[in-house]
Amino acid sequence: MRILSGIQPSGVLHIGNYFGMIQRAIALQAEGEAFYFIANYHALTSLRDPDSLRENSRRVAIDFLACGFDPERGALFMQSDVPQVTELTWILSTVAPMGLLERAHSYKDKLARGMPATVGLFSYPVLMGADILIYDSDIVPVGKDQKQHIEITRDLAVKMNETFGNIFKLPEPRIHAATETVPGIDGQKMSKSYGNTIDIFSDEKEMRKKVMSIVTDSKPVEAPKDPATSTIFELYSLFASKNEIAEMRERFQKGGTGYGDFKKQLFEKLWEYFSPMRKRREEILADKLYVDSVLVRGARRANEVANDVMTRVRGAVGLN
Ligand code: ADP
Ligand code: TRP
Repeated sequence: MRILSGIQPSGVLHIGNYFGMIQRAIALQAEGEAFYFIANYHALTSLRDPDSLRENSRRVAIDFLACGFDPERGALFMQSDVPQVTELTWILSTVAPMGLLERAHSYKDKLARGMPATVGLFSYPVLMGADILIYDSDIVPVGKDQKQHIEITRDLAVKMNETFGNIFKLPEPRIHAATETVPGIDGQKMSKSYGNTIDIFSDEKEMRKKVMSIVTDSKPVEAPKDPATSTIFELYSLFASKNEIAEMRERFQKGGTGYGDFKKQLFEKLWEYFSPMRKRREEILADKLYVDSVLVRGARRANEVANDVMTRVRGAVGLN
């Protein structure tokens, strides 16, 4: 079984990325061969500073390894080290109905946020389809916001299969209901583009500052509080044990504890939770050649599979 996912290097990884995607992607390594890549072609739709693109791409690779990706069991690579995906993107785009892409939420959302309408932004889901189909992927762990992109990928695969014979497997998305949307410090979806993130590898002072600035209502210390509508409680529930969650719920409902104390408790838990990963990250950073060697090996393996699939595709459409 092949498990595939990608993450854009458009900024620094945050706990929404972690609980929405990375954690599960890493756990899924136990179930098959994982192919995870840094989607630097995709990032070009929003990032036009070559130094930042290079730097962020490397940082995402380091952070992914620090979060527990095991390069002995799977491949970690840069999307652009398999340039055949751009060829497949072209082939897929010749069967991709305009209407299908015009319905994509993420394109409409990005325009609404003021991003210029480029052909690349519009055909972003076709490149994502190529990423998935070129490795005969079975399972794609992503956050909920990427679900429609997987549906588009399946539609493209069906279209290709109907037109040219059975070329592609149909991939399945893997979305974890419990962590569908991790809220940011303002209570909206946590996202780099909203400036409301808590970053996984920020330093202690910065992480504490972020946690302490979580937006709450203005209930006084003594008042009972509603855990169901609290960002603090929601974040705490992501990684505390069942008992700890029950205990915090009770203290919310009982009153007598201020939001500041709950935030401190959240910070302590968060800091402790990521502590082994921070340690691993230090080790990775100390070994200058490690990340490059992982990426080179990952790209080699990804190219093997991509070349086989492209031979099949070229033959099926008559480009051989
Ligand atoms: P951002 O919105 O910060 O730019 P990305 O779009 O790069 O994040 O998302 C990378 C991965 O992390 C995707 O699989 C996405 O679904 C997941 N993800 C991002 N933000 C969240 C969130 N707040 N809650 C759950 N999953 C998220
Ligand atoms: N679009 C995804 C995101 O923004 C990243 C991505 C690119 C991806 N190609 C992919 C995810 C293929 C899964 C499979 O998060």
